Amino acid sequence: MKKKAFITGINGQDGSYLSSYLVDKGYKVYGLVRRNSINEHQTTRLDILNNKIDLSYGDLLDESSLESKIRKIKPDEIYNLAAQSHVKVSFEIPQFTVKTNAIGVLNILEAYRKFCPKSRFYQASSSEMFGVSVDKDKFQRETTKLAPNSPYGCSKVFSFYLTKFYRRAYKLFVCNGILFNHESPFRGTNFVTNKIVKGAVAIKLGLQKKLELGNLDAYRDWGHSKDYVEAMHKIINHKVPDDFVVASGKTYSVRDFCNITFKKLNLNYKDYVVQNKKYLRPGEVPFLKGDARRARKILGWKPKYTIHTLIDEMIESWTKTLSK
Ligand code: NAP
Ligand code: GDD
Repeated sequence: MKKKAFITGINGQDGSYLSSYLVDKGYKVYGLVRRNSINEHQTTRLDILNNKIDLSYGDLLDESSLESKIRKIKPDEIYNLAAQSHVKVSFEIPQFTVKTNAIGVLNILEAYRKFCPKSRFYQASSSEMFGVSVDKDKFQRETTKLAPNSPYGCSKVFSFYLTKFYRRAYKLFVCNGILFNHESPFRGTNFVTNKIVKGAVAIKLGLQKKLELGNLDAYRDWGHSKDYVEAMHKIINHKVPDDFVVASGKTYSVRDFCNITFKKLNLNYKDYVVQNKKYLRPGEVPFLKGDARRARKILGWKPKYTIHTLIDEMIESWTKTLSK
């Protein structure tokens, strides 16, 4: 019999890569989508999967929709990827962010505990939970103190500990992936990587003159979503439920990212990038670099992309889109 996976946030960046990955592995994939007033926008990232997945409406804040789906599907694996995932936006809509990312996780954990406790559960935790904290050797790992610096980070810390608590108290197979930033051509264009690549390609094609950004001196550990969803699958299929950091182990500043991207297009970023205060945040995470040695050693996870192949793929995708 086919294994069944239930994915919340299925039409997001990671949800779409994870769906493709699981369909290729022979899974029957079910997903939860929120209603969008423009129907066509709801599943654009899932277009290539056509009729291969089973979607239905729901919301992490609507307990009854979660309960009825989990009861009906009885999935073998639940991936909770749904979230208000934009850190800057979380300062503007802190209550919605915390409701979705914290209480929403409680809602789905409860539905799972009551109606499908034999299933396995994956929670999309984040390196944003480390906030301003970093170990002496300049890495963050599973043992690093959590010091979130945004409503988003705080909400993810709540759901991280809640997930651990459900494992301890109810002996459920629940795990956290503590994923560092991961990108792709499917990334929302209000996240910095896709904003930079889209802007640089538009400038190269003569469609845009300047690119406005916020803090150029924050460091991030960037990988590719395709590699990171593979890690999610390995985490949930490990013999024991556990929490793992998933990261590339390399860090670059936003400025470095601009420099690399513009250089690939034979441009100098200094001629085009300007700072606009409106993109600064009331609280910033200055430095992220993850130590994923446990995931590599215990799960055998190994990313295939580098920052260069990631940017090349994003440039190619935007060149195709903007040249039309
Ligand atoms: P994304 O592209 O923003 O996708 C988020 C998904 O969650 C979307 O499908 C969104 O639906 C859905 N969603 C939002 N609020 C919801 C609600 N109340 N009920 C049900 N669904 C809701 O994010 P992503 O990059 O794929 O990230 C996936 C998960 O990993 C998120 O939990 C994120 O916080 C976490 N994470 C991401 C990264 C990263 O670098 N990408 C790193 C660490 C952790 P709509 O399209 O309707 O808004
Ligand atoms: N979005 C954005 N837009 N960020 C900018 C800009 C800009 O114009 N200019 C500079 N930045 C800086 C931000 O201040 C931040 O330091 C860095 O670029 C990365 O910002 P984002 O791409 O928005 O990602 P993030 O690191 O805040 O959050 C992402 O990664 C987390 C994991 O660490 C999101 O995917 C979160 O959902 C995820 O948990």
